[in-house]
Amino acid sequence: MKKLLLLPIITLSLSAEELSPEQKNDMRLLYLQNACNSCHGNYGEGMGASPRLQGLKEDVILKRLKDLRQGKTRTAFGTIMISFAKALTPEQTILMAKYLANIETKIPKERYDIEFTVEGDGGS
Ligand code: HEC
Repeated sequence: MKKLLLLPIITLSLSAEELSPEQKNDMRLLYLQNACNSCHGNYGEGMGASPRLQGLKEDVILKRLKDLRQGKTRTAFGTIMISFAKALTPEQTILMAKYLANIETKIPKERYDIEFTVEGDGGS
């Protein structure tokens, strides 16, 4: 009984606080280690069928991750995401939602420094 009462309190206190620099770094590593970036991009910018995560609100992300843990997807391709949502512990899910809601939206300038060749057949 005591445990049941404590859980919502921990959950609430986690969501009320900002991530500490350590937690932020832990989530950044977890995002990379769990290969989240391979589908959603290093900055949560999204790729193909994997939605953009930047700009989503924390409560929306948390709800979506909880839904996905239960196998509720928005798209047919979304079933691929279920195991990744399940791989996060409930605590990591809360922290990840917070991390993603505040993910750095700035994309480094190098990303745009693509060299275009002047030669080419113009596509013909
Ligand atoms: C294999 C590719 C893939 C990987 C790896 C992956 N995702 Fe996803 N993710 C998806 C797809 C596809 C969806 C769309 C799910 C749906 O249709 O509901 C999604 C949905 C999401 C959503 C909900 C976004 C929305 O707009 O509904 C979040 C949040 C998310 N992923 C976070 C993560 C995190 C955190 C990780 C790493 C633990 C991760 N994803 C790993 C492909 C991936």
